[in-house]
Amino acid sequence: MNSSPRVVFCATHTQAEPWLEVLRAQLPGFTVDAWHADHAADPAAEHTADYAVVWAPPQAFIDQVATSERLKAVFNLGAGVDALVSLRWPSLKGAPPVPLIRLDDAGMGTQMAEYVCQAVTRHVRELDVVEAQSRQGQWAFRKPRLRADFPVGVLGLGVLGQRVALALRSFEYTVHGWSRSAKQIEGVTTYGGMDALEPMLSKCRILVNLLPLTDQTQDLLNKQRLSKLMPGGYVINVARGAHVVDEDLVALLDSGHLAGAMLDVFRQEPLPADHAFWKHPKIVVTPHTSSRTLRNESLAQIAQKILRLEHGADVRSLPGLVDRSRGY
Ligand SMILES: NC(=O)c1ccc[n+]([C@@H]2O[C@H](COP(=O)([O-])OP(=O)(O)OC[C@H]3O[C@@H](n4cnc5c(N)ncnc54)[C@H](OP(=O)(O)O)[C@@H]3O)[C@@H](O)[C@H]2O)c1
Repeated sequence: MNSSPRVVFCATHTQAEPWLEVLRAQLPGFTVDAWHADHAADPAAEHTADYAVVWAPPQAFIDQVATSERLKAVFNLGAGVDALVSLRWPSLKGAPPVPLIRLDDAGMGTQMAEYVCQAVTRHVRELDVVEAQSRQGQWAFRKPRLRADFPVGVLGLGVLGQRVALALRSFEYTVHGWSRSAKQIEGVTTYGGMDALEPMLSKCRILVNLLPLTDQTQDLLNKQRLSKLMPGGYVINVARGAHVVDEDLVALLDSGHLAGAMLDVFRQEPLPADHAFWKHPKIVVTPHTSSRTLRNESLAQIAQKILRLEHGADVRSLPGLVDRSRGY
């Protein structure tokens, strides 16, 4: 019998082998292999593991691997855990379900800051108009627009929200930030809690969403709240599609209250071919690509946490531990 610690990998829509190769190199002495749905019915297959590394695993994986007391932690290959926490997790002998640990930046912060700053720059500097003019062979200047007229609000001041807020500050934007608990971030005016949301929105012309999707944040960006943005508002959604009420966003774009939106995430992904967002002249759609999971950085972070646990660290000391009661 093999007594080395075992890591099982389960990620949908991904070729497992390149990930296994990196994990094996990071965790010498461990058994690292992939879970397959057809293992479930194979009595000879190994069904238990010490650690799981997952992205969007099926319920069958949880039912098989998380029902063993051997499992010490599940590592998510992303920052958002909404899909993961909504699965059915067994609680063994009354003990709390297995700890979930999400990525803690792992190269996502810089990508997110790049994406948001390009969206803000493109809008404020009217680079979409400049590009259209250049395609017509027009050498035409536009009246400079002032940064001071485009205060930016960042919803969510966690790992990614703070990175984005500081990047925007480096371009001298006025930045407002909102989170559940109040924060202090140099150069950023911060707000905490639901009562502070609408007052904060009314001070912003550009809105960046970097909240986790939870029962409290689903449908948060509806007509009432988006209407609070200054006239000519611009919405950048890089968190989850279900934060935004699609019809309300379209109605406010059509009424002229909002000037545009750059959307990276959608209620249904891929975005259905007949969805109104695709053809809306004020919306730019990108395919959930603002911040990708980087294989080497992510697996190095996860392997380091596994080694810490193997050396006796308390799982509560690991950055990225998910609080299931909050949902993020
Ligand atoms: N599009 C992409 O490619 C992509 C990539 C990665 C991540 N994401 C999304 O980005 C999200 C944020 O990631 P992260 O790593 O920055 O998460 P995080 O570190 O957990 O930060 C979440 C932030 O949201 C705040 N928050 C949560 N619930 C709230 C509520 N009800 N009211 C007000 N504020 C609330 C938290 O407040 P407290 O600080 O007070 O707890 C925290 O500041 C992820 O959940 C994921 O959905 C998208």
